[in-house]
Amino acid sequence: MDTKVAEIIASQPDSVLGFRSFKFGNFEFKRDAYFVHISWPKGSHTMEIDRFLRSLVRDIGWGFFYGWIFFDDVFGTQNHYGTVDIFAGTYSKAHRDSEIDYLETYPTEAVIKAFEAIANDWISEGYDPLRAPLETGSPMGAKGATRTDPLVRGFTPAKRMLGLPGDVSPRSDQSGHPINRAFEDVQFDQPEIITEPGFEGQLHAFNLYDHIARSDVTWNPSVTAVTDASICCVTSEEHMLPCIHGNDRNEWFIQLSDEIHWRIADKNTGMPRGRIIMRSGDVCAMPADIRHQGFSPKRSMLMVMENGTPDLAERYASGELKPYPVEALENA
Ligand code: PHB
Ligand code: FE
Repeated sequence: MDTKVAEIIASQPDSVLGFRSFKFGNFEFKRDAYFVHISWPKGSHTMEIDRFLRSLVRDIGWGFFYGWIFFDDVFGTQNHYGTVDIFAGTYSKAHRDSEIDYLETYPTEAVIKAFEAIANDWISEGYDPLRAPLETGSPMGAKGATRTDPLVRGFTPAKRMLGLPGDVSPRSDQSGHPINRAFEDVQFDQPEIITEPGFEGQLHAFNLYDHIARSDVTWNPSVTAVTDASICCVTSEEHMLPCIHGNDRNEWFIQLSDEIHWRIADKNTGMPRGRIIMRSGDVCAMPADIRHQGFSPKRSMLMVMENGTPDLAERYASGELKPYPVEALENA
């Protein structure tokens, strides 16, 4: 893999809408009132600006996540944990067959800087791509005032067990975040905590539903617990996961409330592989060889379990581990 040294180059703001255009490596990014236009030496692509920005800030905030983030069926990134591919058409059979697919690999830090430069110029006050569409403004039209708060609020590690003194996680009930409108009818009983003498202040329990119900963002998991390589994230989902996640390992979903419809396709070609409707209490494992995108008609709660074992991506890619978790366990 050839890693390209590249820096983002910004144009002057355009005189009509006020946005800059950007060049990074051989990719060019331009936006207008409704769309982003991405071009590369052999081709070009147009995507809704809302979808692009919602995927962009998540890709930055998640540090390119595990494996692939498809902004749509054509454009996206692949994480090599140190370097990142930006690709167009590489995982679309039609683009590959017409030989207009393109991919460049860059150091991770350079891609973060490039994507942040685009996000900072293209996202104005009043539009928050991490919020549900019904809870924020629109990114369409001309450039507005520059946003002053942090654009990306990626995974938030809990520094202490949630609720214990010292917990400053943004979703703790001391955070001041209100219960989301969708969960106003839910009763949040608090657990009774009875501590052995000598352990006062060290034992705690909390209502996880209350915690998730206060999330002000959607499709943006927060890390709730990490045990070695086992990462437990919870998240509050409304509307659609703007990007499509392509796994480089298994991942588990536990539906904690309401329902999510998942569209599952072959990772390399995008050919449909299945649809899953998960209702409250359902558990499913996403195999390591697919891409998936979730649709949540009403705000719902989801627990995502990720396996952060460092060499896992290569072990699945080489075929040493089978893509399904049960077979993988048998082979472990
Ligand atoms: C996923 O791709 O598995 C994913 C991403 C964001 C979420 C939930 C699931 O909020
Ligand atoms: Fe996923």
